[in-house]
Amino acid sequence: MNLTQAELKEIVYNFIVYGDFLVGVPFGGGNVNDTYQLTFDQGGVRLYYILQRINHNVFHKPENVMENLARVTDHLLSKIHAAHMETRRRTIRLLRTPEGKTCTFDRHGNCWRAYVFITNARAYDVLETPEQAFCIAQTIGEFQLNLIDLPGPRLHETIPNFHNTPKRLEALEQSIRKDEAGRVKSVQREIDFVMDRKDECSKLVKLFEEGSIPERITHNDTKSNNILIDDLSGEGLCMIDLDTVMPGLSLYDFGDIVRSGTNPAEEDETDLSKVGMRFDMYEALHRGYVDMTSGFLTPAEYENLPFAGKLITLEIGIRFLADFLDGDVYFKTRRANQNLDRCRTQFKLVESIEEQMDKMTALL
Ligand SMILES: Nc1ncnc2c1ncn2[C@@H]1O[C@H](COP(=O)(O)OP(=O)(O)O)[C@@H](O)[C@H]1O
Ligand SMILES: [Mg+2]
Repeated sequence: MNLTQAELKEIVYNFIVYGDFLVGVPFGGGNVNDTYQLTFDQGGVRLYYILQRINHNVFHKPENVMENLARVTDHLLSKIHAAHMETRRRTIRLLRTPEGKTCTFDRHGNCWRAYVFITNARAYDVLETPEQAFCIAQTIGEFQLNLIDLPGPRLHETIPNFHNTPKRLEALEQSIRKDEAGRVKSVQREIDFVMDRKDECSKLVKLFEEGSIPERITHNDTKSNNILIDDLSGEGLCMIDLDTVMPGLSLYDFGDIVRSGTNPAEEDETDLSKVGMRFDMYEALHRGYVDMTSGFLTPAEYENLPFAGKLITLEIGIRFLADFLDGDVYFKTRRANQNLDRCRTQFKLVESIEEQMDKMTALL
């Protein structure tokens, strides 16, 4: 959906913004929301904001998403200030309406929110160096650390069972039964790949149910392009895309960065020979994450760091496969078979992780 300049202007002026609207352009390569970068002029100084439409097909209760987001970002801000640090670019900051609201609805019922734009920083689809991997994993670990003492009630589960792998498997089995798009026959190999690993899908959920792994506040979508890296210093700055911040397991976040951060290929790469786990990147992720989390991880969390990478990669592959079978309804696709290609890269990566599991475990 592409909005006109007049429409963007009308929406953004529901928030308290400074200066005059100059222009808005589609921004970033997000898979879920519609994102625009807006430029304002204030007395000759350019100010930039992000304006984003929440995808309500994915998030059925945008108000809950925004309540979580506001509580989390306000808490992060208070931590930064308590440490006498400048806010600079260490957390995303929501704009508010004059009534103090964090989102506004357009005439079609779409929910919009706006952030201060973080300049001179970038989110990478593919990580380039182990140094980047180290910094990014630190940023994820620090995010979890800073949210341990979030006051108030439990956050909303904006997507219930988001990383419940056995439930994701059940959903896949249902998609196979329904065969909505008539595609099941073309993916028998991928289905077999999942069924061969069925038992492992419930490992973390079981540890949680036994009490060896606690519930924490987690980001739940820690792919590398949801973390901003400073252009100059290369340091990790902050987590963005906080729609799925909610109660979860720390290992989900570590697992997802292993999935996206160790693979040198694009998520939808069609040449599978390019896909694999780069061990030097894994080693750096491990070091960066443990650097921030060693004070709070339980033994069971720590011991399962290598397994988490495999599980989340398998889980996301399962989701791509199910969406392919459903006819591409959840993940945005720009070409035919894109979800199937995404699924295949995940499964190739799972194999690569399996081959290197001994080395990964030896880091513990
Ligand atoms: N506050 C921000 N400052 C700078 N860039 C941002 C900001 N928020 C989002 N972006 C950019 O927009 C892209 C999409 O935003 P994101 O919240 O990740 O949406 P999606 O859910 O669609 O992935 C990001 O990858 C990033 O490049
Ligand atoms: Mg994103």
